[in-house]
Amino acid sequence: MIEVAGDSLYIGCFEAEDLAKRFGTPLYVYDEELIRYNYSRLLRAFRYKWLEILYSCKANSNPWILSILRDLGSGLDAVSPLEVLLGIKLGFPKDKILFTGVNVSDEEMLFIRGELGVMINIDSLSQLERYGRLFPETKVSIRINPGFGRGHHRYTITGGITKFGIYPSQIEKAIETSRKYGLKIAGLHMHIGSGIYDVELYLKGLEILLNIATRLGGIEFIDIGGGLGIPYRPGDREMDIDLLGFKVSELLEEFTRRYWEVKLRIEPGRYIVGNAGVLLTRVIDVKEIEHAGEKKLFIGVDTGMNHLIRPALYDAYHEIIPARGSNRPREVIADVVGNICESGDILARDRRLPRIEEGEILAILDVGAYGYSMSSNYNLRPRPAEVLISGCSVKLIRRRETFEDLIRTAELESLASR
Ligand code: LLP
Repeated sequence: MIEVAGDSLYIGCFEAEDLAKRFGTPLYVYDEELIRYNYSRLLRAFRYKWLEILYSCKANSNPWILSILRDLGSGLDAVSPLEVLLGIKLGFPKDKILFTGVNVSDEEMLFIRGELGVMINIDSLSQLERYGRLFPETKVSIRINPGFGRGHHRYTITGGITKFGIYPSQIEKAIETSRKYGLKIAGLHMHIGSGIYDVELYLKGLEILLNIATRLGGIEFIDIGGGLGIPYRPGDREMDIDLLGFKVSELLEEFTRRYWEVKLRIEPGRYIVGNAGVLLTRVIDVKEIEHAGEKKLFIGVDTGMNHLIRPALYDAYHEIIPARGSNRPREVIADVVGNICESGDILARDRRLPRIEEGEILAILDVGAYGYSMSSNYNLRPRPAEVLISGCSVKLIRRRETFEDLIRTAELESLASR
């Protein structure tokens, strides 16, 4: 569990401050117990008998985290050849991996379908045609864009007029192409966005998929994608996953009664790992300015948009608390800013916080999804280390990057002597 006890933040048995001292900062810390709990919440909510959870590994692809999910029986939603390869190497069953790419080249399909033997979820009519030529008489899945979507930011909406999927108006053409190459459409898929709190929208999309399924016949699975929203701000609403699970299960049970047994797939990423990660960072420089009649307080930390891009990219909110004295009264309003040379490198804007001293450890919460996985080496800064807490044990699951990881030293030496 990740919680404030007494006046300090704990992850499992460990005080966040001690972890920061022991492993250095910035540091990503994950809680295994929460990951397991979130997974079990999904199983409880979606009671449909033929449910398969395909963890969306773009949210967090640390191999240790993936292996926890593999052991729980999860499959994998993969969006790049190397995500598929990682899943195979970690022992995820091939028939529980689905590759959903965009702008997928023939070379990528030859690798994923041909070499690795993983099913491809087709994103466009062109890809279907090329797939048919390469792999006639095989099974495919089709990503349907139902024409609407939702997300916590416009960049995370994937249904509607976006680059993703095959539109309902293109289905006839898709069927024709599949016939031409003897393809069997085994799966129908949608993923309409990320950070959705609205149950109805999923049901509307699911109905479209089920209608297409009855027209096509022989569908083996219906995949409603990921996107389940989680709360980030104190007081934020939560996606009612029990209601969603209940309604989706009900629709599928009815389909199964009337037609045939079909599997239900869901592809959550954020829901499983989002609240299970924190980023610990040290306060380096507290700067108070007064200029042109304006006052501003900046709390400068040793991480930034290179390690957590969500605030800069989506204006996303992440709660930030001091690791010790977490419950101190919030007396100041400040921007928490990173150490990257960009003025947009703001982790929290005009945030009400306690008075913070230089040297303190801050915890940025709910960064288990799309934190490390979207990090970069911008400004030639190494990525942080990652540790996994499992109750009272702690494991370094990725070491901090070094200069050598970023630059091939041998090459550098030969360049220096030129
Ligand atoms: N399935 C497919 C095909 C996807 O493209 C995605 C996410 C998921 C499942 C999982 O979505 P989730 O359950 O995690 O919402 N970087 C953004 C989120 C982008 C999501 C992209 N696709 C963020 O930090 O909010």
